[in-house]
Amino acid sequence: MSEAHPIEALKALEAEALAAISSTEDAHALEDVRIRYLGRKDGRISLILRGLGALPADERPAVGQEANRVKDVVNGALEERVRVLLSPRGATSEDLTLPARRPWKGGLHPVTQAVDEIWGIFRDLGFTRARGPEADTEWYNFVALNTPLDHPAADEQDTLYLLDSVLLRSHTSPVQMRTMERYDPPLRVIAPGWVYRRDTYDATHTPAFLQIEGLVVDEGVTFVDFKATLAEFARRYWGPGTRVRFRPSFFPFTEPSAEVDVKRVITREDGTTEETDWLEIMGAGMVDPAVLENAGYDSERYTGFAFGMGPGRIAMLKHHVDDLRTFFDDDVRFLSQFAS
Ligand code: PHE
Repeated sequence: MSEAHPIEALKALEAEALAAISSTEDAHALEDVRIRYLGRKDGRISLILRGLGALPADERPAVGQEANRVKDVVNGALEERVRVLLSPRGATSEDLTLPARRPWKGGLHPVTQAVDEIWGIFRDLGFTRARGPEADTEWYNFVALNTPLDHPAADEQDTLYLLDSVLLRSHTSPVQMRTMERYDPPLRVIAPGWVYRRDTYDATHTPAFLQIEGLVVDEGVTFVDFKATLAEFARRYWGPGTRVRFRPSFFPFTEPSAEVDVKRVITREDGTTEETDWLEIMGAGMVDPAVLENAGYDSERYTGFAFGMGPGRIAMLKHHVDDLRTFFDDDVRFLSQFAS
């Protein structure tokens, strides 16, 4: 060593010190390394700096410069190592090969997805969107829709009244009337929105839920258009093999009225298929002429059909969810299954 040129000796010391620093595992070991190389009394780099005066005058500047450079490098490495050793995650905080944390990704609520999908199908069939107020009057919610106030649906047991004749709409059908009042035929509209009923919160009822209303009015609209449109919707939503059934029913504002049921074809994991039971997906019918007249339409000239469905119920059927409340609990473990 004593034979080596001081500059070579400094370079060797630098490499040695840096290796020693990076192999330390705690602050005590690191302090020992610092003393070994830079300790004031006999640190190996300090000794060289102190011995500069003994060198030939023409070598002094170069050796002095190199010794100071090595001292700075080693000091820098010591500081960096202290930071790493004392940081909470230790040396791993510098591991650039670790995978990045995944950014949190939101998703649409399954019922919102159903609304969007249903609306998208009707949009493709030429429908536009309509809306109406959630707080409405007895006239729009019942009377104009041919529903007398002594009808059980108008009972305070079922409907949430805000004032004497003002209520929280119990279905989206009042949007039919409000749309017909504002626009002349032909009409082809879809109106999604919240509706309210005095229901106990249980597996199949919630006091507030979404409905999607549809209304078509034009000259020459027939029962065939009605059936064909809803069957086309059902097959686009539930799959091409879906069977559709129109069951006679009653609504005060449609005549004739029907409940629409679908039978889906489900493909099992092994590739074989299976048909579901009949699932009831909506109420519908040909618009009652009295309703058209209430809107100021000429019922001799115009005919139409209307339908109403619950996207919450439809999402339950689609995803085989058996408790409606899971859509309202906002538990991310449940909801994240539907994120796309
Ligand atoms: N408004 C009805 C309901 O809430 C559904 C419906 C809409 C039926 C349009 C016929 C026509 O049950």
